[in-house]
Amino acid sequence: MSYYPRRKLVMLPGPTNVPDRVTNAMLKAIVNHRGPDFRPLLNSIKGKLQSTLETTGDVVVLSSSGTGGVEASVKNIVKRGDNIIVPVFGEFSGRLAEQIKEEGGNVTKVETQPGTAPTPDMIDDAAKRIGQVKAIYVVYNDTSPGTTYRWLKEVGDIAHAHGGFVIADSISIVGGDELPQDKWGVDMVVGASQKCIGAPPGIAFITMSQAMSKYVTSNVPTTTYFNLSKYLEFMQHGETPFTPALPLFYAFDEALTMVQEEGMPKRIERHRTTASAFYDALTYGGLHPFVEPKVRSNVVVTVKLPDGVDDTTFRGTVEDKFNVILAGGFGPLKGKIFRIGNMGDVNRYHVIVTLNAIGSALGLMGRQVDVTGMVRLAEERLKQLAPVPNPSIPA
Ligand SMILES: Cc1ncc(COP(=O)(O)O)c(C=O)c1O
Repeated sequence: MSYYPRRKLVMLPGPTNVPDRVTNAMLKAIVNHRGPDFRPLLNSIKGKLQSTLETTGDVVVLSSSGTGGVEASVKNIVKRGDNIIVPVFGEFSGRLAEQIKEEGGNVTKVETQPGTAPTPDMIDDAAKRIGQVKAIYVVYNDTSPGTTYRWLKEVGDIAHAHGGFVIADSISIVGGDELPQDKWGVDMVVGASQKCIGAPPGIAFITMSQAMSKYVTSNVPTTTYFNLSKYLEFMQHGETPFTPALPLFYAFDEALTMVQEEGMPKRIERHRTTASAFYDALTYGGLHPFVEPKVRSNVVVTVKLPDGVDDTTFRGTVEDKFNVILAGGFGPLKGKIFRIGNMGDVNRYHVIVTLNAIGSALGLMGRQVDVTGMVRLAEERLKQLAPVPNPSIPA
């Protein structure tokens, strides 16, 4: 028997809803990945990623989820004893610091409580104490607390002043907020398909500065599958060193075409607008955003669970009664917050339906919530929102 789950509104911080246009692209023919039919596809993905990230640097595309991209980065850059600084302000940045340690890196964590983020001054102090820094690894959007590191450029300047690289795990934010890689001097960006780009999961990508490409090609990493030097070499002929996940490449290319058609400035503005509708309406409804305003994410909205509200019952009600999937907190935030993915083709429909589901579920659990007032306020914020072309669900 085939397995077909019921379609729901996926408001997770990845994977997110995929437009039919993108899903249908996976039906294209399987071609020879060592022949002329594959090259235009890979080059098309490369060009669109360069345009999305405003970079002229090298691009590699991996058949793996985002973690593979992070692992590729760490294994190609970090050598035993290297001094690496990692701002830690959530589960993903904590995990990244551990991955670097496993590779033998001498990690200095600059840590603050989830919901806040270390300032560039704190990182500069650490860099001054250390002297020679190989790299500063930043999670640009830590998806666990819902925090965007708003000083990526400043931290890049600090890394460069100490002779190092700046590397950004941007998995949950590329395609949803600003990241002009060359202008900000980011040496390596790691991203993935299933979040703000709105493609199915299974593709990771890495874009890099010239200095980084030079470093990567002159070093031998401790990995075969993620040897970036090999990817760069094969990329010159429009190929990948190993068999690419072809249907996912087609889907990823189509999703990137949709990013191009909308244009990054409008796309960023749309994510900002829907995020502010969420934050303001939820606050009106008596809920409290988890992250302090200056580092609050526009792509992952996190909210404190009201006292006495059980997370499993709440999210179970939202899903079972209203067909909306929300994420819980994890690590120390488990049972304390819930998370809404504000990603991909998120539009008025997503916001209104999700707010209704949250407010009504809390109502069913015996809380007094002014759902109509929440929706009215959200509609006010969404007034200027342009419709999304070819949406996954009603726009
Ligand atoms: C910031 C960040 N880094 C890494 C990952 C891991 O990506 P994946 O689950 O695609 O392997 C995620 C996934 O949510 C993420 O949000």
